[in-house]
Amino acid sequence: MKRKIAIYPGTFDPITFGHIDVIDRAAELFQHVIVLVAKNTSKAPLFTIDERLAMIREVLRNKKGVSVDCFDGLLVEYAGRHKAGVIVRGLRAVSDFEYEFQMALTNRKLAPAIDTVFLVPREGYTYLNSSIVREVARLGGDVSDFVPGSVQRRLTRKLRQG
Ligand code: COA
Repeated sequence: MKRKIAIYPGTFDPITFGHIDVIDRAAELFQHVIVLVAKNTSKAPLFTIDERLAMIREVLRNKKGVSVDCFDGLLVEYAGRHKAGVIVRGLRAVSDFEYEFQMALTNRKLAPAIDTVFLVPREGYTYLNSSIVREVARLGGDVSDFVPGSVQRRLTRKLRQG
């Protein structure tokens, strides 16, 4: 494997077991994986950027070869600055494909030396996304199968505040 540094970008609002599964797989493939939290997305996240970073750092603190950072602006510019040759994205179902394909080709157009690698999370997590987790938590459902305990506690606290 020639490429050493990979970035795994996303909104992570919040991080789920599905994301963690992709991070574990990426950490097996690359020397270093940067989990990269997007500050500015078209979404209006429930958790602030600092909360998302803290939550992810807490969950990933024992994983070797994985660090956490945030970014604003173009993904490929961050990748270039940090010498990351690979963008990792999770591919859960056919419905992800069109959007992911478009992003991968746009990023290639902007930075031809950077490749996108798609990793498939465990089947049990293919239906999962952060909106579903937020919705179930908001309605008082049990999200312990979807997110780590520390994330669950933060969700409960956050939703109680709002
Ligand atoms: N398990 C569980 N859920 C997963 C998942 C997995 N393995 N992989 C993705 N998801 C979910 C996310 O939780 C998210 O759910 P939500 O929409 O309910 O919040 C959804 O699938 C997809 O979101 P995410 O993976 O966070 O990506 P995104 O689409 O929000 O982020 C960026 C996209 C940030 C990577 C992209 O917008 C970007 O690169 N922005 C920077 C600007 C730029 O460079 N633009 C040009 C690139 S085309």
